[in-house]
Amino acid sequence: MASRKVLITGGAGFIGSHVVRLFVNKYPTYTIVNLDKLTYAGNLENLRDIEKKPNYKFEKGDILEVDFLRDLFKKYDFDGVIHLAAESHVDRSLHNPTEFAMTNIIGTLNLLIAANAAWTGNFEGKKFYHVSTDEVYGSADNGEFFTETTKIDPRSPYSASKASSDHFVLAFNNSYHFPSVLSRCSNNYGPYHFPEKLIPLIINNILNNKPLPVYGKGENVRDWLFVEDHARAIDTVFHQGKHGEVYNIGGNNEWKNIDIVRLICHLMDKKLGRPEGTSEKLITFVKDRPGHDLRYAIDPSKLMAETGWRPETTFEVGIEKTIDWFLTNQEWLKHVTSGEYLKYYSNMYQGR
Ligand code: NAD
Ligand code: DAU
Repeated sequence: MASRKVLITGGAGFIGSHVVRLFVNKYPTYTIVNLDKLTYAGNLENLRDIEKKPNYKFEKGDILEVDFLRDLFKKYDFDGVIHLAAESHVDRSLHNPTEFAMTNIIGTLNLLIAANAAWTGNFEGKKFYHVSTDEVYGSADNGEFFTETTKIDPRSPYSASKASSDHFVLAFNNSYHFPSVLSRCSNNYGPYHFPEKLIPLIINNILNNKPLPVYGKGENVRDWLFVEDHARAIDTVFHQGKHGEVYNIGGNNEWKNIDIVRLICHLMDKKLGRPEGTSEKLITFVKDRPGHDLRYAIDPSKLMAETGWRPETTFEVGIEKTIDWFLTNQEWLKHVTSGEYLKYYSNMYQGR
């Protein structure tokens, strides 16, 4: 196996930690450097099981500091980048769009500049991989599926910032022949999911007998993919994706929010030995998210046809695995639901 030096940004976050784990375990001859600022969403406890491996290194740092990034490229001589660091929560973006523009747009641009400066003149064997989201396509209200050529139509500050960063990644490829590729994935779920997002929030609130906030009527539809399937897709795109290309990643697994919430209630009543219907009583319909996208639906056929990648975990299996993980890792949940997260939670849900 070849030896490579790969920078993974945002590796202490939800998806990033799964990608770091997969690469550290699967590629012992690679050096994996995890660069993370450790914002509220970054948690090194996610990586406890691999943190002592000889091919893993952690660097605390901010993608907004371009000189730091240039020095990092000199220090490690990376030949690959997998860029996941971002502000990722739509509700937070409605409260602080500037922070999202800075991290997601300027942070990505800084990384592109640092990589381009380090690699110019020798793009051979190099790859810059930007991890993006299906939300850049807007809302698929008329039953259609997002393909890679669907019009970019972001509708929240979060998705606008991700769409802008996507444009920079493609522009660097076009302008400098920079070796970049990007993917756009649907909603992930699984272990280490931060409990501000729907599925872990519902699990955490059921455990604590707290109301289960469902925005609007719960009719919005998301396409859910088990996070380990996304990590495998990222491995596939990193090694096989063609420069200048976009790849959609998704699970062909659409659910209305209210149906997911009811399913989790049902499964958790069984697992916790509570009478059927106990958790459903906690469902509370709250004020809708402003500009709430109705439906996301990804067509992942290009990636499947070009590489053979397929989701391996059905939703029935994945949701049970996820609930079981949270039940056996309640210590992890307690750690992340303390401090800043709790303050954020009470601010965000005032009036909802
Ligand atoms: P997350 O919020 O769990 O993690 C983000 C990580 O980035 C955290 O560890 C945080 O500390 C780090 N970070 C934030 N700002 C930084 C900065 N300035 N410098 C360095 N590190 C910084 O996010 P996630 O849900 O794991 O998403 C990861 C990526 O995948 C994001 O780019 C997101 O847009 C994309 N994505 C997420 C989903 C999803 O369902 N969660 C789906 C598709 C795409
Ligand atoms: O589609 C990919 C995107 O999926 C990623 O790019 C984002 O980073 C990720 O956060 C996720 O965005 P969503 O906005 O779809 O995820 P969230 O978990 O916040 O919400 C899922 C759905 O559930 C959405 O329709 C809003 C609704 N919701 C959410 C929360 C937190 C509720 O009804 N109640 C809630 O408390």
